[in-house]
Amino acid sequence: MSNFQRTLITAALPYANGEIHLGHLAGAYLPADVYARYLRLRGREVLFICGTDEYGVPITLTAEKQGITPQELVDRNHASIKASFEGFGMTFDNFSQTSRAIHTETSQAFFLDLHRRGVLVQKSSEQFYSPTQGRFLADRYIEGTCPQCHSAGARGDQCEKCGSSLNPDELIEPRSVLDNSPLEKRATVHWYLPLDAWQPELESWLATHPEWKENVLNYCRGWFQDGLQPRAATRDLHWGVPVPLPDHEGKVFYVWFDAPIGYISATREWAAAQGEPEAWRRWWQDPESRLVHFIGKDNIVFHAIMFPGMLMHHSEPWVLPDNVPANEFLNLEGNKLSTSRGYAVWLPDFLQRFSADTLRYTLARTLPETKDTNFTWEGLQSRSDNELGNNFGNLINRVFTFAHRYFEGRVPAWTEADLTDLDRAALDEVAACRGRWAERMERFEVRAALDEAFAAGQAGNRYFDESAPFRSRKDDLARCGVSIAVTLQIVRQIVVMLAPVVPFSMTKVWGWLGMKSDLHRGGWTEGLAALPAGRALGVPEILFPRLDPDVIAAEVERLRALTDGLA
Ligand code: 2FM
Ligand code: ZN
Repeated sequence: MSNFQRTLITAALPYANGEIHLGHLAGAYLPADVYARYLRLRGREVLFICGTDEYGVPITLTAEKQGITPQELVDRNHASIKASFEGFGMTFDNFSQTSRAIHTETSQAFFLDLHRRGVLVQKSSEQFYSPTQGRFLADRYIEGTCPQCHSAGARGDQCEKCGSSLNPDELIEPRSVLDNSPLEKRATVHWYLPLDAWQPELESWLATHPEWKENVLNYCRGWFQDGLQPRAATRDLHWGVPVPLPDHEGKVFYVWFDAPIGYISATREWAAAQGEPEAWRRWWQDPESRLVHFIGKDNIVFHAIMFPGMLMHHSEPWVLPDNVPANEFLNLEGNKLSTSRGYAVWLPDFLQRFSADTLRYTLARTLPETKDTNFTWEGLQSRSDNELGNNFGNLINRVFTFAHRYFEGRVPAWTEADLTDLDRAALDEVAACRGRWAERMERFEVRAALDEAFAAGQAGNRYFDESAPFRSRKDDLARCGVSIAVTLQIVRQIVVMLAPVVPFSMTKVWGWLGMKSDLHRGGWTEGLAALPAGRALGVPEILFPRLDPDVIAAEVERLRALTDGLA
């Protein structure tokens, strides 16, 4: 266990441009929430920060398509993303928005600090300008004839017809998407983060973190090998945080400059809401605080390289990320997710039909921790029915039902002296699983941690079968009672191990066990104490009902139709 006082956890700020899908959840949000819950379970101090990332060209394009303002779009999407995250059981301490005033203020102050210190580099470049609209146009606002396949209507970043990725300079007769007017090249001046100059420092800093995940270190090594390039911090756009310098009208921050600062803004907003406006500094500027960024692999360069560089070159003493446990991607039924084709499973749709715990468990078992993985609906059904239902649910159901039927719904009488070798062996085995479970969780290895929880469930079922309370109840009720008490004790260990992953169900079982404390805040410690004989137990209900095969088949069919349409 690390010695830090407190851990600040961030999960990538999702773009407020659409709903959350399973790929997002597997990449960043579920692992972040599981880790935050794990630390709280162990009684450690955690602040968990997120919010919507609300600037950038795709947002303005979507807003235009829908005939609303960008602010209306992001407010709407913020509300619905927030609601579906709540349904999924995310435990953010604050879920903010980058279009809020506190973020404008925080990111502008951050920029000015770097600017005053002479850290930012100014460079001029030629960009497409629309004389009719009096503005520079981002790549996505430019259309022309594709230089590869010569079809009209290729976008400044890509030709949809032949799939070539383009830059607007390659387009034949570039025109504005907005009014079809011809464009001209004009010089424009922007501020850049000199990542090239920062490279030696960044490399030395990263060398102090050999414990990071291999996939993350490999990406970083690759970029260092190619040589880092300066990155724009500003853009010619209207939707964004305005650059706070004279003569910079029409310029805003590049969305990747302001987005990571959004973590700081959201922490400041949280502190203000606590009535302690300066409390954010404890999390960001005290060396006793540890910063952990949860992200998908496409965000690694920004969190492991660009943002740490920004923090290092600011005048205040920022905490640098202690770890960036990025995940790879999740595929869906063997294909890449594609939001533009609708080839995804959206969180709000999922939650209308199934429970959050079912999804959390299945995703946690298939997290792309070291390589891309595949989600299938059949896999969901099998994990839910066979693992949640037959392994965990069955054990829990058996022992509570038994206690109610033969022991008046109470923990049967037992003492240490009653324990047989079989009882002790089972308790020891489960305790060993719990120890390994915790080691895995410390290292962000949720899948391996769940293997231990699963093994504990199997050990519990095996113990129940071997100690056979269903036989001893006929001729040795005292022995039968000890078996039930031991099984209840095992169940309590399993509840602790499953709590970060299937919190809704485990909260119920914690209640049935008659625990008065909050499982999710320090429950680990109480979970180790012995269950007192005579304690009244709650009445169990089916925790993980079987999934309807027809509903699963319909989901598979919906995705198959989308891939058939492609062929
Ligand atoms: O990739 C994304 O979804 C980005 N919106 C993540 C931003 S993370 C942070 F820097 F804000
Ligand atoms: Zn083309």
